[in-house]
Amino acid sequence: MSVSENLDSTLFFLSLPRNSFSSALALFIITLLFLWFYPGGVAWALSKSRQTIPGPTGIIFAFSGTAAHRVLAKISHSLHAKKLMAFSVGFSRFIISSHPDTAKEILNSSSFADRPVKESAYELLFHRAMGFAPFGEYWRNLRRISATYLFSPRRIQSFSESRREIGESMVREIKGLMERDGVVCVKKVLHFGSLNNVMMSVFGKRYDFWSGEGVELEDMVREGYELLGVFNWGDHVPFLRWLDLQGVRRRCRRLVSKVNVFVGKIIEEHRLKRGADSVAKMEKCGGDGDFVDVLLNLEGDERLSDSDMVAVLWEMIFRGTDTVAILLEWILARMALHQDIQSKVQSEIDMCTSNGSRLVSDSDIPNLPYLQAIVKETLRMHPPGPLLSWARLAVHDVHVGDQLVPAGTIAMVNMWSITHDKQVWSDPTEFSPERFMVEDVSVTGSDLRLAPFGSGRRVCPGKALGLASVHLWLAQLLQSFRWVPSDSGVDLSECLKMSLEMNNPLVCLAIPRR
Ligand code: HEM
Repeated sequence: MSVSENLDSTLFFLSLPRNSFSSALALFIITLLFLWFYPGGVAWALSKSRQTIPGPTGIIFAFSGTAAHRVLAKISHSLHAKKLMAFSVGFSRFIISSHPDTAKEILNSSSFADRPVKESAYELLFHRAMGFAPFGEYWRNLRRISATYLFSPRRIQSFSESRREIGESMVREIKGLMERDGVVCVKKVLHFGSLNNVMMSVFGKRYDFWSGEGVELEDMVREGYELLGVFNWGDHVPFLRWLDLQGVRRRCRRLVSKVNVFVGKIIEEHRLKRGADSVAKMEKCGGDGDFVDVLLNLEGDERLSDSDMVAVLWEMIFRGTDTVAILLEWILARMALHQDIQSKVQSEIDMCTSNGSRLVSDSDIPNLPYLQAIVKETLRMHPPGPLLSWARLAVHDVHVGDQLVPAGTIAMVNMWSITHDKQVWSDPTEFSPERFMVEDVSVTGSDLRLAPFGSGRRVCPGKALGLASVHLWLAQLLQSFRWVPSDSGVDLSECLKMSLEMNNPLVCLAIPRR
């Protein structure tokens, strides 16, 4: 063989792998580009069904920031995809509606009656609680029990005295803080008041959050909020889930063992208290017993295991506490900013209580339409769950409008976007409770222009209880104080965690009126 022949054959053998490597690299890059530039991004490109829903390419990182509702609203407006937009977070397929019509379709369809269970919720056992339980007999049972024994008008009424006392103690606390510091940071006061309200109706017990068991409870609640609110990449990129880089699983397991001991002890105390006379107890639970008594009295198929009971009870604390406290903080911020609106509602309260000669109570609320309008306007401008808290999951292939949404897609409603859309609301950025004096819009889920409690089968079951607390406490706080901005002013910037919080907690002056 000549030298040149040798060289040729060497080059041939060298060039073969290089060519196939280049081809493989080219194929890899083309695939990546295809995945990346597919409308809706990577997860939609990997889905079997071809889709035509408009959406941003690539992967959305909005959820790791603090304003996902604003980012998603901006993208869906710019892509003319208000009715429906597709996007990807890691390998999870999402759709989002920023329009009342498609929002209604999603929330009211039984095809979206499940929720995606994120790792933190699963680890905290919430898949056995109402909010994350799959749509089915177990979930239906929990809804029915809580509708009868926790959220019925009669039960809400039966806790009115305890609600009033909690409001009064918040007033006393704020007075004390004002005397001590000259200003008041209301966040903690509202949070503790709201937590005690839920603890009373669920566990029949109030806590002092400055010492003993109360401190332990507050620590557990804070840790739980943080874990449920954290954006966990492991929920959307399977191999990251396994690695638990953010330590979510580790922290959840540590918390769950503490919760089991804490709530388990309360259940045991209730068991001991019930004594021998179970018939009398049954009657009591129909009347004034707390929710633990109710769960302990369930019989037959309805009976819950202790660990299910812990999950159900614990979830109520998470769902019912911060939503109410955060909403009240936003309202007080608005009151401090809009002195004219504050004076108007205070006149309404004074008129209703014979010139302020008696304390406002639950029975006055139906006669305070302007106060109710303020609550609605704050729910519109600062919905505690701008993306309706926890999303829904398509249980099978389903159409939304004329678009096919494949099973397993996570569906969201951007309520913040709808309530800030000038095609839906006139002057949407204007805080104007008067709009609800002209048009009475229901906030409880029938009108998707303003549905801060969601809608359909999984609508918030605690909405009447939540509103009763917000209305009464707001009336008490406005009857007692004039709310004025402190020197640092009122900063309305937001931070989306588990709920939409004020980025800088409200610090203001609460000047006694009486
Ligand atoms: C201002 C107060 C509140 C707001 C804004 C609020 C908002 C919401 C929203 C948006 C949902 C999801 C609805 C959907 O998917 O359509 C929800 C579900 C839920 N809420 Fe509320 N909520 C509030 C108060 C409460 C209270 C006081 C409780 C109980 C003590 C509670 C318990 C629940 C539960 C258990 C669910 C899950 C229902 C299910 O999946 O079947 N909420 N809430």
